[in-house]
Amino acid sequence: MAKIGVAGKGGTGKTTLAALTVVALLRNNLGPVLAIDADPNSNLAETLGVSAPKSLVEIVDEVSKSIDRLPAGIDKTQYLEYRVREAITEDKGFDLLVMGKTEGPGCYCYCNHLLREHMEKLQDSYRFVVMDNEAGLEHLSRRTTRQLDILFITALADRNSLLSVQRIYEMTKKLDLDIGQVKLVINEHSVLPKSLQMSTPLPVFFTLPFDQEIWQKSCAGKGLLDLPEDSPSYQVVQKTLKLVLGI
Ligand SMILES: Nc1ncnc2c1ncn2[C@@H]1O[C@H](COP(=O)(O)OP(=O)(O)OP(=O)(O)O)[C@@H](O)[C@H]1O
Ligand SMILES: [Mg+2]
Repeated sequence: MAKIGVAGKGGTGKTTLAALTVVALLRNNLGPVLAIDADPNSNLAETLGVSAPKSLVEIVDEVSKSIDRLPAGIDKTQYLEYRVREAITEDKGFDLLVMGKTEGPGCYCYCNHLLREHMEKLQDSYRFVVMDNEAGLEHLSRRTTRQLDILFITALADRNSLLSVQRIYEMTKKLDLDIGQVKLVINEHSVLPKSLQMSTPLPVFFTLPFDQEIWQKSCAGKGLLDLPEDSPSYQVVQKTLKLVLGI
């Protein structure tokens, strides 16, 4: 199993890049793919164009409330596993796990316990895991897993965005996460000038061009699964993944 994560300041194209990555993996027959939406303001489902499943936090909450009424012969852990697998199954060639919003530290603790125990096992049944993160990365150490093969950090070509890249990059080291490669992706979707006027904390790995089709689909509330093959952003992601993954 290889795990690809996306992080970056708000609105820099994290979810778009995560969705394009899922699409590219599926079109290259690199499934099964597990897409994880780890952003509490989740919209990976919408960006992919599927309905959002019940979140992990909701499932954990329901299971913890029904512990006394579990089907005979099934323990809490098995039941949770069953409920999670039931919720994440999509019919479009990938599964989608939405982490959801936690209600407080108590829930985090309970989620932590169950997640640490089962997330690794769950992820192991996929060839690729693609994780759309919230801007900060603290949750990686708190919740699911500390390991990523590649972390793409998305940014626009502005100073604040690049300062965020620096912070996220430093955080990957401070939290002692096990990340194979950290790569900077500049997204040109804003009206900002195309060429970078500043030095970047990391070399620019690739640039996501402005993509009319993505923008139109987003405005129309449509997903990216049927994005045309010649979409400029899709082309860049597809070529980059081929390069990075050696496929
Ligand atoms: N290369 C692109 N071309 C056209 N539109 C884009 C491109 N990248 C992103 N967008 C659009 O910009 C908006 C923000 O992108 P996206 O939701 O992927 O950012 P995000 O970093 O996930 O945001 P958030 O921090 O809110 O989760 C979306 O409407 C998306 O469709
Ligand atoms: Mg997002």
